[in-house]
Amino acid sequence: MTWKKVCDVGDVDVNSVKIFDVGGVNVLITNYGGGFRATPPVCPHMEEPLAESGIVANCVLTCSKHLWAWDLRTTDMIGETEKPLKFYETREEDGALFVNMVEELVYEFESGDEFDDDFFSQS
Ligand code: FES
Repeated sequence: MTWKKVCDVGDVDVNSVKIFDVGGVNVLITNYGGGFRATPPVCPHMEEPLAESGIVANCVLTCSKHLWAWDLRTTDMIGETEKPLKFYETREEDGALFVNMVEELVYEFESGDEFDDDFFSQS
């Protein structure tokens, strides 16, 4: 295990996301009110930077680009979401937040992964 300090717990407001450089790896920290989650900084759908597209409300992180969403309490996918988020293990200690940085977590993207035009026409 390789625990690395990311930030102080007060550095990320409730219901917000923020990117931190952890030993050269960008990690997105989400404060969902009930705790923190640490993930890669991009959406697993089409690599949208979640620091800009991510919305946090009611313990759910939603990518505003195409509305994929994840329950941050359970890490479950919600609704039409097709890929899970990847999570770094986190722990809090003395007001600081640490992640277990064994290796950088990345998503695989298919080339030509186009937006599904049928998405919004489904009822
Ligand atoms: S890029 Fe995030 S939902 Fe499509």
